[in-house]
Amino acid sequence: MGTVVDAYCISEGSHKETNHYVISIKGSGIRYKPGDSLGFYPTNNNNLVKETIRKIGAKKRTIIETKETGKITLENALLHRFTIHRAGKKFLSAVVNKMHKGKEKDELISVLEDRDKTDKHLFTRDCIDILNECPVHFNPQEFINTLSPITPRLYSISSSPKTHPGEVHLTIAIVKYNNFDRDRFGLATGHLANSIEVNQTKIPVYIQPTKEFILPKDKSKDIIMIGPGTGIAPFRAFIEHRKETGASGKNWLFFGEVNQESTFFYNNEWADYMEHGHLDKLTTAFSRDQEQKIYVQHRLLSNGKEIWKWLENGAYFYVCGDKQYMAKDVHSALIEIAKKEGKMKKADAEKFINKTLMKDQHRYLRDVY
Ligand SMILES: Cc1cc2nc3c(=O)[nH]c(=O)nc-3n(C[C@H](O)[C@H](O)[C@H](O)COP(=O)(O)OP(=O)(O)OC[C@H]3O[C@@H](n4cnc5c(N)ncnc54)[C@H](O)[C@@H]3O)c2cc1C
Ligand SMILES: NC(=O)c1ccc[n+]([C@@H]2O[C@H](COP(=O)([O-])OP(=O)(O)OC[C@H]3O[C@@H](n4cnc5c(N)ncnc54)[C@H](OP(=O)(O)O)[C@@H]3O)[C@@H](O)[C@H]2O)c1
Repeated sequence: MGTVVDAYCISEGSHKETNHYVISIKGSGIRYKPGDSLGFYPTNNNNLVKETIRKIGAKKRTIIETKETGKITLENALLHRFTIHRAGKKFLSAVVNKMHKGKEKDELISVLEDRDKTDKHLFTRDCIDILNECPVHFNPQEFINTLSPITPRLYSISSSPKTHPGEVHLTIAIVKYNNFDRDRFGLATGHLANSIEVNQTKIPVYIQPTKEFILPKDKSKDIIMIGPGTGIAPFRAFIEHRKETGASGKNWLFFGEVNQESTFFYNNEWADYMEHGHLDKLTTAFSRDQEQKIYVQHRLLSNGKEIWKWLENGAYFYVCGDKQYMAKDVHSALIEIAKKEGKMKKADAEKFINKTLMKDQHRYLRDVY
């Protein structure tokens, strides 16, 4: 268990909410290294649980039983064990099975037959939304049998244990949106944003250690870190750790966010590190401070010559953050740099990045999600 001992917003004035959390792990026996992630078992929102129990017309103390949980109350099952903030396919199918024949049932059957349509339907709905649209009856046990278990969420740790003994720091973007006139939150980020009382609430956490996403053993090696958005998290830990351990290698950080004014996370810390020689280069890409989007990969390309020099000199290249778009674009930029600055053919550049740098030398490391 950990206790949240500090929590504050680091995106003041932005439409996005990104928060810094400090979790005390004193006395828990938990140990970690820079690059590790923290796993967190979230709890469903109290009001959502109450509303869901009301919606199925049940009583919170009713006992349900599953293989995984044994006998527990419906309330406990919905608070701690099962996902209700987003409906799953199993639940939708069970609802459709209970519906009377007719146009509405046929429409939902065709939704269930098409994966994209099912995903789209479920993207915006939780169990309450579906029961509002299709008012069928479930007894508590039947209802529980249609739900998926809550899975833990992982967060890249943004602190070095040497700088913050007994603490784990996290940098978390809160997932929030509004559908059908109801405000919604991601399960874990909603829990952290809305249900935490600093110095009071204990949260179930564990360390997910990394074998690959680690600092170079040779402290004289240079490192290049690409960390837009919450991807910055492990690099705060890396720089703290390199400072504490007197690493002589140079540190180059690329950071990207929407606006310099509101989302330049840890700006003061970077300025201080630059002043005292713990951060050698800081390159930023604020995507919405001008008409045309500027992303970290654009900054990489415009610094291609120097990036190539660092890589030739044995630098490690780290990427953290969005997997779907950013990591792919950064990967392409790196191949482009190898082509242009390394004067390689496309196939050779790809081989150099994908095989030599990544697989053989383990100098291109990613923590993307
Ligand atoms: C190794 C690893 C490290 C990570 N590190 C970090 C980190 O340092 N910081 C960080 O913030 N996150 C990090 N994440 C992501 C994190 O684990 C969670 O996935 C994230 O916080 C969302 O969790 P949640 O429970 O709040 O949201 P969930 O309840 O899981 O919901 C998230 C989902 O909500 C959906 N959604 C988003 N917007 C809308 C919308 N408008 N309408 C409908 N649905 C929508 C999306 O499908 C999204 O996938 C990391 C993930 C991994 C795997
Ligand atoms: N599935 C998605 O659509 C999607 C997209 C982004 C993030 N995410 C997830 O949302 C969570 C939180 O994200 P976050 O708040 O840390 O930051 P983020 O949403 O990743 O944004 C950080 C910065 O990256 C920019 N960006 C957007 N597309 C990019 C690309 N292709 N290449 C490089 N930079 C790009 C953003 O610009 P703009 O916003 O101005 O474009 C912003 O300036 C993460 O879990 C991430 O994986 C999901």
